[in-house]
Amino acid sequence: MTSNIKNICCIGAGFVGGPTMTVMADRCPDLIFNVVDISEERISSWNQNDLSKLPIFEPGLKELIEKNRNKNLFFSTKLKNAIENADLIFISVNTPTKLIGLGAGKSSDLKWVEASAREVAKFSRGHTIVVEKSTLPVRTAEVIKKILYSSLEETSEKDVSFSVLSNPEFLAEGTAINDLENPDRILIGGDDKEAMLSLSRIYKKWVPDHKILLTNIWSSELAKLASNAFLAQRISSINSISTICEVTGADIREVGMAIGRDSRIGSKFLESGPGFGGSCFKKDILNLAYLAEYFGLEDIARYWEGVVNFNIWHQRRISKIIVEKLFGTISQKRIVILGFAFKANTNDTRESAAIKICKDLIEEGADLIIHDPKVTQNQIEKELKIKSLFNNSEETDLSPKNKLGQWRFSETYDVFDNAHAAVILTEWEDYKNIDWLVESKKMVRPAWIFDSRSIVNPQEVTNAGLNLWRLGDGSSKNKKNDF
Ligand code: NAD
Ligand code: UGA
Repeated sequence: MTSNIKNICCIGAGFVGGPTMTVMADRCPDLIFNVVDISEERISSWNQNDLSKLPIFEPGLKELIEKNRNKNLFFSTKLKNAIENADLIFISVNTPTKLIGLGAGKSSDLKWVEASAREVAKFSRGHTIVVEKSTLPVRTAEVIKKILYSSLEETSEKDVSFSVLSNPEFLAEGTAINDLENPDRILIGGDDKEAMLSLSRIYKKWVPDHKILLTNIWSSELAKLASNAFLAQRISSINSISTICEVTGADIREVGMAIGRDSRIGSKFLESGPGFGGSCFKKDILNLAYLAEYFGLEDIARYWEGVVNFNIWHQRRISKIIVEKLFGTISQKRIVILGFAFKANTNDTRESAAIKICKDLIEEGADLIIHDPKVTQNQIEKELKIKSLFNNSEETDLSPKNKLGQWRFSETYDVFDNAHAAVILTEWEDYKNIDWLVESKKMVRPAWIFDSRSIVNPQEVTNAGLNLWRLGDGSSKNKKNDF
């Protein structure tokens, strides 16, 4: 059977909309993909000739953009055109945690989803399949349907109808292209079988049948929230064990390996780190907790909130350890921060553990030099909400008047001069290749390396005369002879 869908629109050209439509366009050359966004800046970045300036850094993305852009893949701000011509519309807009009003701090803010649904109702023609690609609270499909059909009542001259489906996205940043090309599963929830089959026929062009799951719409919405909650819970679990390792003399890498060998548990997502970041884990768990609360399930809400609360505690614990190891004060001490992205292979900094840790260190008076291979100074400034005081070339103001800490950005690896410590917060491949024998000579003695990602070779660091603290490394507790 061939698909009756020819023209696809995606509202939202973000970390999900952009890569997802790019891979779909690559796998479905017979279909047209129009990715639209209200942000002119974002769209013009997607249309840049210089592919190093795409709004998102994702391995493998620029090659696919080069191959498919302006063939069957188009980025524009022309929502009306794209919606009018679409047989199927993905809604892939942001759904951050609500900041004010009912459910503030927990539930998702659906104003961008609502605005998208209103645009769809206003401009669509004939029958349109509307697909939730954004991660949404359970029963949002009902809201979307209501918006679509109530808007239709106002413009009754049109012969327009809709099917609403849920098709959550499971890609992880940094591996998005591979995740999209080889997904573990494609989940399609709905009550219109024909629409569900139309969407699944698109995926079948590159995804094996057995990976395409068809469910009711509410199961699909809930499964997305629950999947993220399970993943985040695993990270909080391993990080909690890392704390126990440090006080007992165990090693989290060994413990994680032993746990993961149980085939019922599996080895993935057992790496202890500075606490989970990213735009979704925290927001989706809080959303799940809010849902439970809404239905009067207080104990369930508290259970899931515990995962987020532990993560916050864990991030704070790392900055405390840094201060303690540096003799209880870091005031005016130069500390190198290696990595600001929430994980490697992305330029995304949303909810990155680095934000909280850097802020804490600046509050304690430290002089930070922040390096990240893909994150810009502007982006760091936006996240820290503290202006970078110095350019690369300028010297640190060590005068007593300057009691609060400060930070500056470095594009190069020339960052270790006079540093008291280096803190690895993102597991960038480059950081594995730092020659500690060379860099240690530039640092103040005694100097520390704080490795929150377990990427350095402990022997190389200690042979270079540096003190090493690794997350979940109980052996360091027993060492009496720090350099
Ligand atoms: P994002 O902020 O990167 O992108 C959203 C885009 O939507 C923005 O460019 C914004 O300008 C645009 N937008 C907002 N309202 C619009 C409107 N009315 N019309 C047109 N464009 C509009 O967000 P994201 O990271 O791509 O996430 C999108 C959704 O996907 C969220 O619900 C998120 O939870 C979910 N999700 C994200 C990831 C991820 O890795 N980032 C993975 C799976 C699912
Ligand atoms: C996560 C999920 O993995 C995706 O399936 C989901 O689609 C997505 O959220 C979403 O809904 O947004 P993402 O946040 O991009 O993807 O990246 P992850 O690889 O899950 O990492 C999240 C955080 O957990 C990062 O800070 C990472 O460093 C941390 N992490 C991950 C660990 O500390 N240890 C691990 O073993 C794995």
